[in-house]
Amino acid sequence: MKSLVVYTSVSGGTRTIANEIASEIGASLVEVKGDHLHTGVEDVRIRTEPGSVDMEQFDLLFLGTPIWMWNPSPVLMTYLKKLNVKGKRLALFSTSEGDVRGAMEKLKSELEDNEVISIEDFLNPKLKEEEMNRSRTWAKKVVDIALKQR
Ligand SMILES: Cc1cc2nc3c(=O)[nH]c(=O)nc-3n(C[C@H](O)[C@H](O)[C@H](O)COP(=O)(O)O)c2cc1C
Repeated sequence: MKSLVVYTSVSGGTRTIANEIASEIGASLVEVKGDHLHTGVEDVRIRTEPGSVDMEQFDLLFLGTPIWMWNPSPVLMTYLKKLNVKGKRLALFSTSEGDVRGAMEKLKSELEDNEVISIEDFLNPKLKEEEMNRSRTWAKKVVDIALKQR
């Protein structure tokens, strides 16, 4: 099972969790970089080329985002629109301070032509270091589920 972790991060919390997940299951890793042009959440410029990812070779895609004002990162949302993800098994994760509300439903709604296996939020590991281990356990569980579905 070939897995890819695609994530964005501003202050490093989501990057830490993405690294834990990728190292636990031997996944490839792509950080999506972008600039927030204004304080408004939608206005972003993406600096990571979607064409650099060959989606065809991956069976399982982890997507990770920080939560900002109960929303997924507009950098990730904008990138996904360009990436055109279809027919994949997905595991969605966020890092936050614990108040996610409907953020991940918004992310899921961008990904309708896929099967979402699991959605999980992790507290920013700077606030709670144990989240690093919990993310490893979760990643293994997701892979198990995906393998059983084959
Ligand atoms: C502008 C801003 C808005 C945030 N909004 C929320 C929020 O709505 N809910 C929440 O639980 N945490 C919120 N946080 C905390 C971040 O989601 C959390 O620190 C996250 O782990 C940051 O990820 P990163 O380090 O990968 O950038 C916010 C942080 C910032 C800077």
